[in-house]
Amino acid sequence: MSDKIHRVRFEPVGVEMDVFEGETVLDAAFRQGISVMHGCKEGQCSSCKSVLVEGDIELLKYSTFALPDYQKETDHILLCRTLAYSDITVELLNYDEDLMRRSIAVKEYDGVVTGVTPLTHDIRLLEIALDNPLRFWAGQYVDLTIPDANITRSYSMANPPSSPTRLQFIIKKYPDGAFSALLDGALQVGQRLKAKGPYGTCFRREERTGPMLLIGGGSGMSPLWSILHDHVESGENRPVRFFYGARTRRDLFYLEAFAALTAKLPDFRFIPALSHAEPDDEWTAEIGFIHDVVARTLRAEGLDGNVDAYSCGPPPMIDAVLPILQISGVEPERIYFDKFTPAVR
Ligand SMILES: Cc1cc2nc3c(=O)[nH]c(=O)nc-3n(C[C@H](O)[C@H](O)[C@H](O)COP(=O)(O)OP(=O)(O)OC[C@H]3O[C@@H](n4cnc5c(N)ncnc54)[C@H](O)[C@@H]3O)c2cc1C
Ligand code: FES
Repeated sequence: MSDKIHRVRFEPVGVEMDVFEGETVLDAAFRQGISVMHGCKEGQCSSCKSVLVEGDIELLKYSTFALPDYQKETDHILLCRTLAYSDITVELLNYDEDLMRRSIAVKEYDGVVTGVTPLTHDIRLLEIALDNPLRFWAGQYVDLTIPDANITRSYSMANPPSSPTRLQFIIKKYPDGAFSALLDGALQVGQRLKAKGPYGTCFRREERTGPMLLIGGGSGMSPLWSILHDHVESGENRPVRFFYGARTRRDLFYLEAFAALTAKLPDFRFIPALSHAEPDDEWTAEIGFIHDVVARTLRAEGLDGNVDAYSCGPPPMIDAVLPILQISGVEPERIYFDKFTPAVR
């Protein structure tokens, strides 16, 4: 990164900031506490897609799923991949007042592993104590780095923001996963690590009325668990429907905690669905992929459009859920999601 500085102007919000030559526009925004739409930060998810109005830029390597060639030709850019070589003006395609108002500057925090607990055969609860409190919104994530293994991955906090030094993460294990495979033995209590953040725009919008839909699969439970508990702590009162997709009975966890919440909250339903139920599962509840279950349930319950929907987990699940939400009448600007895209290696 050079010392040369350029100005970036974001339209239509009229916000301006500096960017160093060699620094991505998104990193410059994080550094200066300016929150613009983003997801993976690696050119994979398209959340940061914007339009270059004027100026010279270069795009670092990205996935053409995130930015197809026909969009590049019409001056679309990915802020997480954009380097500026002059002052530039960028038109943001997605932004909301809440996002801008609730920016938190990204910082690095030191921490130590305090626990690794199995939740299912391939999901672990990782617990970390930070030396200093991390301010974040429910649903956000951090980049965790294990310095000894020289590996960094993004993980969403499962605890609500009321616990700013004791962080929890619900993590799915991949057999050859550079980070997640360390959770069975290699990553021990006492191991030092670093957390950088907070990142993410799929955080709980407060003081809203109407139903709140939480839709996840696998480790997508992590940010949704944080959002749900933050909602409960807030004392706000709105109907909540929590949809959770799993393959078989052995992929479900926290069932007792969900039963306790169902008994405690006035209008709460946990709706787990199994896509590959086994005969031994003796499963009599919802069967099928979670987007189909969401569609069926919303059709049966009816929606009046005053809804916030949060969806987190594997990209194919999110891609299937988003059109269902729109067809069901949820306003596009009230659909928040985080795709757990694999890291670029
Ligand atoms: C915004 C964001 C938030 C995230 N939050 C969480 C979270 O809360 N909990 C969580 O468990 N993960 C989360 N992830 C995913 C996480 O960052 C890692 O990508 C994941 O843990 C795999 O990392 P790894 O080092 O173990 O595997 P890698 O070494 O990166 O990959 C090894 C192999 O595992 C398989 N693999 C890895 N990732 C995937 C995938 N997503 N889908 C299918 N196969 C895959 C592939 O075969 C790959 O070749 C999040 C990702 C993003 C972008
Ligand atoms: S493509 Fe830029 S944040 Fe995902």
